[in-house]
Amino acid sequence: MLLEVRDLHVEFHTRDGVAKAVNGVNYSVEAGETLAVLGESGSGKSVTAQAVMGILDMPPGKIPKGEILFKGQDLLKLKEEERRKVRGAKMAMIFQDALSSLNPVLSVGEQLGEMFIVHKGMSKKDARAKAVELMDRVRIPAARERVGQYPHQFSGGMRQRIMIAMALALEPELIIADEPTTALDVTVQAQVMDLLAELQREYNMGLILITHDLGVVADVADKIAVMYAGRIVEQAPVHEIYKAPAHPYTRGLLDSIPRLDQKGQELYAIKGLPPNLLAIPPGCAFNPRCPMAQDVCRTDVPPLYEVTESPVPRASACHFWKECLHG
Ligand SMILES: Nc1ncnc2c1ncn2[C@@H]1O[C@H](COP(=O)(O)OP(=O)(O)OP(=O)(O)O)[C@@H](O)[C@H]1O
Ligand SMILES: [Mg+2]
Repeated sequence: MLLEVRDLHVEFHTRDGVAKAVNGVNYSVEAGETLAVLGESGSGKSVTAQAVMGILDMPPGKIPKGEILFKGQDLLKLKEEERRKVRGAKMAMIFQDALSSLNPVLSVGEQLGEMFIVHKGMSKKDARAKAVELMDRVRIPAARERVGQYPHQFSGGMRQRIMIAMALALEPELIIADEPTTALDVTVQAQVMDLLAELQREYNMGLILITHDLGVVADVADKIAVMYAGRIVEQAPVHEIYKAPAHPYTRGLLDSIPRLDQKGQELYAIKGLPPNLLAIPPGCAFNPRCPMAQDVCRTDVPPLYEVTESPVPRASACHFWKECLHG
């Protein structure tokens, strides 16, 4: 297994109290596999990813419990220097906002080349040639002419391609893409997503794709982990989830996707708000918003049940997963 996150907990110590942002997350990604992580704003998708990358703000963040196994080695046990090596060469992250992630006063060629100079000890000239090669790879037209240009001279879609090029530079085994296309308009979104999926297949990388857009993941993901209040509430191969969700929260997310054949109808929205992480409700964290909630949901935290009726492994943290599956 390339990456295995086990029982990960992350909390933030703030003036108002302890915010429990991640509360026992388990997920895994194999080489060549795409895991989509879904969930509303604040559900802990990015914080989990930051913990995996080793870029969590600590303090105020703290990891009281858990393991992050990268090819069997627990990254949380590494010294900072060893950790940095893994982060630089073996895994890379792509962020939503390319403009603020790129350095405005360096040309894109310098920024791409820097990776090869620092990590591979290349000469400036060779690094520049590598930068052009990478820009070609992510299909930036006229790469040779544009290698000396600055980030603001590129469109949003092209900048996001440059971010992908940066992430690919050292041929990492794992890429975490945190809402990589959210800031782009819809057609450009699809192009960038296709490119990322294509490169991932070609390099046989593991990909964790964070998004709150269920529409985006259907084509590219192998499996989905749905997060709510810092926990995974449902995990399944992508097609199984679309066929029949086994958690009312997933059902709510699916029902909120706009559909062309239902044009004109009012869009469904899950009622209520995500919980305050300083005071997560007892029982199932989703219970105050759940149309299926019973008494037990208000008292007992549901474990991640194996969905035994499924021919492929899948799991749901709902006491009533069976009813949900057939509902
Ligand atoms: N540095 C920090 N200090 C305090 N709280 C933080 C910090 N970083 C994240 N949090 C909190 O952790 C919780 C989870 O945040 P996270 O960024 O993982 O959400 P998310 O699922 O990625 O949401 P979004 O879809 O909006 O990106 C949020 O309540 C957030 O406010
Ligand atoms: Mg986020």
